[in-house]
Amino acid sequence: SSPLDELIASLAVHIPDFPQPGVVFRDLTPVFADGAAFRRMVEGLAAPTLVDPRAAALATPGTGDPGFDVVVGVEARGFLLAAAVALQAGVGVVPVRKAGKLPRERLSADYALEYGTATLEVHTDSLTPGQRVLLVDDVLATGGTLAASVSLIEALGGVVVAVSVVIELTDLGGRQRLAPRTVHALWTT
Ligand code: PRP
Ligand code: MG
Repeated sequence: SSPLDELIASLAVHIPDFPQPGVVFRDLTPVFADGAAFRRMVEGLAAPTLVDPRAAALATPGTGDPGFDVVVGVEARGFLLAAAVALQAGVGVVPVRKAGKLPRERLSADYALEYGTATLEVHTDSLTPGQRVLLVDDVLATGGTLAASVSLIEALGGVVVAVSVVIELTDLGGRQRLAPRTVHALWTT
C-alpha cells in the first residue's frame, strides 16, 4: 500500500451489478476529476520504464529518455490516461480503437471482455518495428483487452516495454495472460 494507491482507493467508486449482474464496476471518474489525483496517477503510470533518472524526475516534461518512444492507449477509458502520459513524457500517442473507427489500413484482434466480446484495431502504419511502447489502460480485469492490444502492437513490430494500468483485479488472472511482459498497476485489488 502506498499513498497513491490509498488516494485512488479513496476516490474510486464500486458499483455492484453494472453493466450487468455479477460484475462490480470500478468507476474511476472521480479520480480523473481530481486534479492532484489525476496528475499523480499519470506520473505513476509512466514510472516503471523511467530508467533515466533525469526523466524519472519529470521535472521538465519531454526531457530525457522516458524509456519508451510512444504511448499506446486503448479506447475509450485508456485514451484519457494515454494522452496525458504521452504529453508528460514528450512522446506521441497511438490509439487502439474499437472496430469500425479507423479509416485506413488496419489490423484487427478479436477478444472476450469481462462482459461480452469485441474487436480492437490499430492502423498498420502507426508503429515502426523496434519502437518501444508503453501500453496504457485504466483497468486490468480478465486481460482480454490488453492481450489483444499487445498482439496488435507486436504484430507491427512494436516492443511492449511495460503495460501500465490504474487498477488490477488480481482474481481474474489478467497478469498471467500478459506474461512475460512487465505489468505495472497503481492499485491492486
Ligand atoms: C473496460 C476497461 C478495460 C477493460 C478491462 O473497457 O476500460 O479496457 O474493460 O477488461 P478486461 O481486462 O477483462 O479486458 P470497456 O471495454 O468496458 O470499455 P471502455 O473503455 O470503452 O469504457
Ligand atoms: Mg476500456
